[in-house]
Amino acid sequence: MSEIRVESTTGLRGEIAVPGDKSISHRAVILGSLAVGVTRVRGFLESEDCMNTVSAFRRMGIPIERTATGELEIHGDGLDGLKEPGDVIDIGNSGTGIRLICGVLAGQPFYSVITGDESIRNRPMGRVTKPLRQMGAQIYGRDGGNRAPLTVIGGDLKPIHYKSPVASAQVKSALLLAGLFTEGETSVTEPALSRNHTELMLRGFGADVRTNGTTATVLGRPSLQARDITVPGDISSAAYFLVAALIVPDSEITVRNVGINPTRTGVLDVLRAMGADLTVENVREEAGEPAADITARTSNLKGTEIRGETIPRLIDEIPILAVAAAAASGETVIADAQELRVKETDRIAAVASELSKFGVEIEEQPDGMVIRGGSELSGAECESHGDHRIAMSCTVAGLAARGQTLVRNTENIRTSFPGFEDIVSDLTRLSV
Ligand code: S3P
Repeated sequence: MSEIRVESTTGLRGEIAVPGDKSISHRAVILGSLAVGVTRVRGFLESEDCMNTVSAFRRMGIPIERTATGELEIHGDGLDGLKEPGDVIDIGNSGTGIRLICGVLAGQPFYSVITGDESIRNRPMGRVTKPLRQMGAQIYGRDGGNRAPLTVIGGDLKPIHYKSPVASAQVKSALLLAGLFTEGETSVTEPALSRNHTELMLRGFGADVRTNGTTATVLGRPSLQARDITVPGDISSAAYFLVAALIVPDSEITVRNVGINPTRTGVLDVLRAMGADLTVENVREEAGEPAADITARTSNLKGTEIRGETIPRLIDEIPILAVAAAAASGETVIADAQELRVKETDRIAAVASELSKFGVEIEEQPDGMVIRGGSELSGAECESHGDHRIAMSCTVAGLAARGQTLVRNTENIRTSFPGFEDIVSDLTRLSV
């Protein structure tokens, strides 16, 4: 089992790049596989989660190759080009992978079984299987279809207008993808706007997608045309180093080429409200996905409130925001974030248990936490709970904590951020 050791440090300085956006990378493989022609993806995230999505489509007969120049080439065969997989599709640790692919499988007139690791097999799938059944797919699984392994016999779908009880891009995307295989309009209305990469990319591939407030609508049976995609760096990965720069004394880190789609930048808004010195420069845009270079400098952070409609805009950044809150003076309240209970692990419980090991005063709430920050953190022995974001958040806390920190069970970092540890080593080796 791998582990990471870090020591109290000062002066983290440098320019870094983080790997490609995970959400956009999954979607590029999925839509490239359903389009006619060769889709070339530059900046694809070669993490375990995204490679499992690649394997899933290879298993359904789609040739996907890595070129000599490091691009991913997907040889799509159109909406009806997938073949019945010869074996179970194993999606590993990826909630995005299993839920989005379920949407695609629901539209296929063949038999398939999809499953994942222990964490995935314990996560709720009813949020996608229930509406997909309403569209006409036959889906079977443990716990009445709420837990993987899931068996899907799809085809012959009818469009629906679905009011989702959760603000979830995975639910929205699964239904929009299934909607591609219907005659008519499929709509999803969510309680707050979640990330909109599926809508943007579908449009880029030529689908008719409309959005109105928190409702997204797709017209079925489009002719999707292959295209080139450039994936920006993942803001969820950048967030670890931005927070590290903010809380480690005498630091300044620039992260180049970070995706700043407004449905993802809640972390920047909250850090700014906490008093963070952040600069966003060189803003550019490709196919509706903006990217920029972001610089963070050591700042005196103060506590804040994070709740309501911003939650889906920073859902994956709450563990690292909790680290920022621990280093900030005063109280930070995080509420309306009950979705964290059903992530790779229960992230409310995991953050509370691990940050308290650093001496942080933190109180768990059913839908969030209250953190009383500002006291010096002391180095700790932490456990990742098998969750990449907990492992990386503890590592960053360790950089700002007195003495040494050990983070156990860190191999899961490769699901989203291969190279994380190398960047930490480079920055700390060069630290002043
Ligand atoms: C994602 C959606 C979010 C997020 C996950 C990636 C996506 O999950 O937490 O890491 O790519 O659609 P939910 O849809 O469950 O909120």
